[in-house]
Amino acid sequence: MAGHSVPIDFRVNPAKITNPVERKTLLQDLVPVVEPFTGSLTEISVSEVPGGNFVALYASDAMTFSVKLYANGIVSGTVEYYTDQVNEHKIVNDDGRQLERQLREKFGCSVAKVLPALKRAPVINPYFTSSDDRILEYDVDKIVFEKQSDFQKVQICHTLSFGNILVLDELQNLAESDLPYTHGLMNKENENFEGKEILILGGGDGALLWELLKEKPKFVTMIDIDEVVMDSCRKHMRSVCGDCLDNYDGPNYKIIVGDAIAYMKDYIEQNKSFDYVFGDLTDIPISSSPRGELWDFIRNIINLGTKLLKPGTGKYMTHAIGSGCENALKMFERQFSAVEVPVSINRTSNFVPSFMEDWCFYQATRKS
Ligand SMILES: C[S@@+](CC[C@H](N)C(=O)[O-])C[C@H]1O[C@@H](n2cnc3c(N)ncnc32)[C@H](O)[C@@H]1O
Repeated sequence: MAGHSVPIDFRVNPAKITNPVERKTLLQDLVPVVEPFTGSLTEISVSEVPGGNFVALYASDAMTFSVKLYANGIVSGTVEYYTDQVNEHKIVNDDGRQLERQLREKFGCSVAKVLPALKRAPVINPYFTSSDDRILEYDVDKIVFEKQSDFQKVQICHTLSFGNILVLDELQNLAESDLPYTHGLMNKENENFEGKEILILGGGDGALLWELLKEKPKFVTMIDIDEVVMDSCRKHMRSVCGDCLDNYDGPNYKIIVGDAIAYMKDYIEQNKSFDYVFGDLTDIPISSSPRGELWDFIRNIINLGTKLLKPGTGKYMTHAIGSGCENALKMFERQFSAVEVPVSINRTSNFVPSFMEDWCFYQATRKS
């Protein structure tokens, strides 16, 4: 069961709203355009609201139609109704196109848009956001796993288009469709991992470890803080992690359950170094100690990771954000320029299916 809101928006000459007679006519003309979809509407109220704008409310037996009339000519209406089945649409795409045509004809407007129904408070949430704050609606049909771990809410949702998706604290991580994410992070084809010593920070879905093991590395150490992520991915995301999460110790890899930041500090004290360090942490990494501002925290992680690189050749590889987020990308680059060991950076990107956006990755090489 869910509520549904269908946004109906168009633009008219502002005089049609500011002039009281024309405003009345506009509403009188609008109601019959909407009624074929809502049933017969009764006027509940029409009022002026601050800013010289107006709101009107109508109701039929099963639906409400509210309209905000902005003094600048924007008319924003919403038809709202409730259904027992989340995917039962009372106003479908064809209805929307028909409404748009009628609005254009009736009001002579060039802008008229009817969006598909937004589902309100469904039991299974289908909405996520892109990194630049656009709404993404997934065709989620069931939640296959859900548990609050000591660190985060771990969910695996099944979608028709992307397979299972790992969702941590309501943010989408990796989906079964997202090999381009893992290959983008690896900068595959441009890097040679054969015989290399590699450290993965995070990476609990096992996809990066699985793909790296195919490249014959000397040894991969992966440190993830949350066993619930690894257990759930081992069971429900096997197409991305293969069998590498079945055992925490393999012939050329080991998985450590712990805070990657604490381990990096120990490794620095022990003078350990790696050919590659991968930052595959959550966008907001978990911290077992106070972390302060997010960018300071991210810089601290990059700072520790780059100190563990072999001078001259070692590379810190990390995922960043969608390519539309120029400011955040600049901030990332600023963090690299502020680390203690000098690095040169390179940026690549790959389209990641379930993110529905082009995703950026950095490769930072430690200078000699
Ligand atoms: C699932 S992976 C992959 C990130 C992902 N591809 C994305 O879209 O953000 C992220 C992992 O980072 C782990 N993680 C977060 N903070 C951590 C920390 N301080 N130490 C180790 N692992 C951490 C989480 O448990 C999670 O399994």
